[in-house]
Amino acid sequence: MSDIKTIGVAGSGTMGAGIAIVAARAGFRTVVYDTRQDALDRSRKQTADFFAKSVQRGKLTQDQVATIMANLVGTTNLADLAACDLVIDAVFEDLRVKHDLFGKLNEVCPAHTIFASNTSTLSITEIAGGSGRDDRFVGMHFCLPAQLMKLVEMSPGLNTSEETFSKAWAACEAMGQRPVKTKDNPGFILNYFLVPYNNDAIRLVEAGVAEPADIDRAIKEGLGYPMGPLELLDLIGLDTQLLLCEALYGVTHEPRAACPPLVKRMIAAGHLGRKSGRGFYTYQGNAMFGG
Ligand SMILES: NC(=O)c1ccc[n+]([C@@H]2O[C@H](COP(=O)([O-])OP(=O)(O)OC[C@H]3O[C@@H](n4cnc5c(N)ncnc54)[C@H](O)[C@@H]3O)[C@@H](O)[C@H]2O)c1
Repeated sequence: MSDIKTIGVAGSGTMGAGIAIVAARAGFRTVVYDTRQDALDRSRKQTADFFAKSVQRGKLTQDQVATIMANLVGTTNLADLAACDLVIDAVFEDLRVKHDLFGKLNEVCPAHTIFASNTSTLSITEIAGGSGRDDRFVGMHFCLPAQLMKLVEMSPGLNTSEETFSKAWAACEAMGQRPVKTKDNPGFILNYFLVPYNNDAIRLVEAGVAEPADIDRAIKEGLGYPMGPLELLDLIGLDTQLLLCEALYGVTHEPRAACPPLVKRMIAAGHLGRKSGRGFYTYQGNAMFGG
C-alpha cells in the first residue's frame, strides 16, 4: 500500500495537466503549482472538459467528477506544496529551472516528501543533485497524453534509496499507472527507440519519398501502430523533438538521433505542431487537415 496521500505537480502545461488528472482521478488530493495563473486556468478548463467526456462515455458519474475536481487545487504559491508526500516536476526542460524549483521545494516540504521528475532528456542524478535530498529523488517519466497512457518509466538516480524507489513505485501503481524500471540513461527506454524512429519519418518527408499522411497510413496499417510518426510529432511538438534529439545525440552520437535539418526550419517558421496550429498537418480546433 502506498503511504502517499497528497501529490503535488509542479508545472501545469502539457504534461503537468495530464499527470494531475491521473493523480486526482485515482483519489489523491492533488495540488498543482505553476508560476502562471493563465496556465492553471487553461489546464483546469481542459481537465473539466476531459472529465465531462468521461461522464458522457459512462466511465465516471457527475458525483465522482465533482469529488475529483474538489480534490484538485491549483496554486501559484510554491509553499502550498508543503502538504505533499510526493511532488512530481513537469516544469520546463531546463536543468537550472529544475534545480531552482527543487532547491526551493526542499526548503518548504517536510523531510518525508519524495521528489520526482518527469524529465524526458535530463539526468535524474543531475537534477537530484540540486534538490538537497538526492536519496529521496526518483525519475517518473509519464507518456503523452498522461491521462490516457498507462506507462511510466521509473528510474532511480545514483543516490536514490531503495525505500524511496519502492514508495514512489507503489504510488505510481496506486495512481492506476503501469511502471517499468529503467536506468538513469538518456531516452530511458521509450525515447531511445522513439527519437530515431521519428527522425527516420522526418527524413522520408525531407527526401520527398512520401507525403506525411501516406507515411502515417503505411505505419498504422502496416505495423499496427495506433498513430503515425508525423501525427505523433505534431502532438509532441517539433521544439520538443529538437530538445530530445540534442539530448540523445549529445550523449550517444547515434546518427539516427541527430536532428534532421527540416525540424529547425519548421521551428523557425513557427510550425511547431498542434500547439501552433501547424506542423506536418494543419489544425483547426481538434480537426486535422492535410499532410
Ligand atoms: N511534451 C512531452 O511530450 C513530454 C513527455 C514526457 C515528459 N515531458 C517532460 O515534462 C516536462 C514538462 O514538459 P511540457 O511539455 O509539459 O512543458 P510545457 O511547456 O507544456 O509546460 C511547462 C509548464 O511549467 C510552468 N513552469 C515553468 N517554470 C516553472 C517553475 N519554475 N515553477 C512552476 N511552473 C513552472 C510553465 O508556466 C508551463 O505551464 C519537461 O521536463 C519535459 O521534458 C514532456
